[in-house]
Amino acid sequence: MNRLFLKKTLAELTTEASEEKRGLKRSLGAANLILLGVGVIIGAGIFVLTGHAAATMAGPAIVLSFIIAGVACGFAGLCYAEFASMIPVAGSAYTYAYATLGQFVAWIIGWDLILEYTLGATTVAIGWSGYAVSFLKDLGILIPQSLSSPPVSYDPELHRWVATGAILNLPAVLVVGVITMVLILGIKESATLNAVIVFIKVAIILVFIAAGVSAIKPELWRPFIPPNRGQFGIFGLSGVLRGAGVIFFAYIGFDAVSTLAQEAKNPQRDMPIGILGSLFICTLLYVVVSLVLTGVVPYTELGGPAPFAVALDAMRLHILAPLIKIGAIAGLTSVILVLLLGQSRIFFSMGRDKLLPPFVSRIHSRFRTPYIVTLITGAVTAVMAALLPIGIVGELVSIGTLLAFVIVCAGVLALRYTKPDVPRVFKAPGGVATPILGIVTCLYLMSGLPRDTWIRLFVWLIIGLVIYFSYGIKKTKSIS
Ligand code: ALA
Repeated sequence: MNRLFLKKTLAELTTEASEEKRGLKRSLGAANLILLGVGVIIGAGIFVLTGHAAATMAGPAIVLSFIIAGVACGFAGLCYAEFASMIPVAGSAYTYAYATLGQFVAWIIGWDLILEYTLGATTVAIGWSGYAVSFLKDLGILIPQSLSSPPVSYDPELHRWVATGAILNLPAVLVVGVITMVLILGIKESATLNAVIVFIKVAIILVFIAAGVSAIKPELWRPFIPPNRGQFGIFGLSGVLRGAGVIFFAYIGFDAVSTLAQEAKNPQRDMPIGILGSLFICTLLYVVVSLVLTGVVPYTELGGPAPFAVALDAMRLHILAPLIKIGAIAGLTSVILVLLLGQSRIFFSMGRDKLLPPFVSRIHSRFRTPYIVTLITGAVTAVMAALLPIGIVGELVSIGTLLAFVIVCAGVLALRYTKPDVPRVFKAPGGVATPILGIVTCLYLMSGLPRDTWIRLFVWLIIGLVIYFSYGIKKTKSIS
């Protein structure tokens, strides 16, 4: 059989499901799913990248960018829910693709998901560092810039990297190191812990909104869409589009909700409620927060790693600064943890399928965690967080995740024709329109991202193809 189209049988997937998921209960209701979604979604996107995108791409119209990205995510989310409900194994898009579309597509998705999870964790770790440094400064502890910034930054006008004089981003390395240790020790986020973190995050955002509303100076919203600076993506309508592609990052994570289909009490009803409910709540919060941010500080000043701190300084609300910073730091910590956890699970599955060297999937005898993949993931993330600037990394995460969404939507569309009779616990409404609109809107968001980001994506995919054809395809054995 052609290995490119190697698929798993239902029996193999069911065996894997019972081995890996023994004891798993259908215990999650709609509220739990919404809370989990909000818990994974809200992080560096809103706390960090919003400022970068408003300052350099969209200005106050970053609000429109959030709405556009939210709609694209809605279509992709419906497709994720349908895909998840067809497969008996709770898992990532990699697992679904392997089961339904074959090994080759699964490899592409798995390779591409590294951009979402590992680079996503890197971005959030850099954002975490921004808030931690700002918080320590409030306590009178100064971390020198040379130890809290990347040694290089990318100048989009010169199209080249320039030295910053800094050595590395040490706080980002430390947080990734500690979380990696925690993951190896086997500590898991329970739904209760997640609910507590969500409560803190959302409460803090609401406090920020309440405090900021009265400090808004409407003149800062004019012009709402700053005129284009003569280059695509730098303000103007193209800037709104590019901003949407970048702050799309703020929505990343809702796909994690779709992986809980097997743990939901009533997936047919609750999956769409969980995915769309968390997306709706987050879109609403994002729109209001970005109106406040750009209403209290000139958007040009929001480009640093801690825009909320800048806004609070402008409002002279130093009294709220520690609370907001602690909340942001806690919130970002859980996002890093879940993204690294997700990445190690995907690598674990790829190792088990022999698409990566199988030793990476070894389980620690005492902690019962996939410690080798977790260590490798943590080490790579720490090195990247130490050396790279946030804007570059965030854009690559967004384009990688958007590509994964396009493939998932295309997969759902293809399966509507090739496997119309396989039962779908949840079927996305709107017939084939939903996956098609998912593909179109995600491609539209990708089209707004910088050419350099596209080039990096292609280079990444080519490296993936070279590895697949020189290693993965030779090592895998026929399993169907
Ligand atoms: N959506 C997550 C964040 O913004 C990844 O941090």
